[in-house]
Amino acid sequence: MSATKARPQDLRRARRIRQHGCWDHLVVAPLWVAYRANLGTLVRTCDAAGACLAVPDTPHYQEALGVGETLRGPRRPCIHWVRRGRERWVAAQRSAGWRVVAVELAEGATPLTRLAPARERTLVLLGHEREGLPADLVEAADECVEIPMVGRGASLNVAVAGSLVLYRLAGLS
Ligand SMILES: C[S@@+](CC[C@H](N)C(=O)[O-])C[C@H]1O[C@@H](n2cnc3c(N)ncnc32)[C@H](O)[C@@H]1O
Repeated sequence: MSATKARPQDLRRARRIRQHGCWDHLVVAPLWVAYRANLGTLVRTCDAAGACLAVPDTPHYQEALGVGETLRGPRRPCIHWVRRGRERWVAAQRSAGWRVVAVELAEGATPLTRLAPARERTLVLLGHEREGLPADLVEAADECVEIPMVGRGASLNVAVAGSLVLYRLAGLS
């Protein structure tokens, strides 16, 4: 790379001057994700990929996002507060025409490498750090995506998994 090219901090300043509004096309729903750091990481990925975040409207999530989110000021991404039971909310989104993608390890799941960019309004479900996603939601999803792994760990960190899937669905990777 040439030494005369713009530095990363110059590119950041030039490129990241606006926040995106709610495009209502791609929503990531870590409805069972508990840890602040994971929610904070997902907020940043949503901002970067032009997606929205949906989380339960409870004191726990409000507090966790307040602490975990490190994007301050006018660049806050769009957050949808879920004000009813989580499974009922997912069912209502489906009835309203959203395509539901579960991110989980499951028999017959689509490998990440074959996941196509979202062409319709898409809701992405992420599971709890220990318990994963409720099995009935994985079963009912329009598509389940699994990220191939070759190491010894049983699963990825949920914010990493969500970010990888989001970038594919946003057509950015
Ligand atoms: C740490 S994992 C939960 C693991 C849990 N102990 C289990 O065995 O079900 C948390 C969430 O991250 C996502 N996840 C982690 N690794 C994944 C992978 N390789 N493929 C798809 N989703 C993954 C899923 O949404 C999962 O529910």
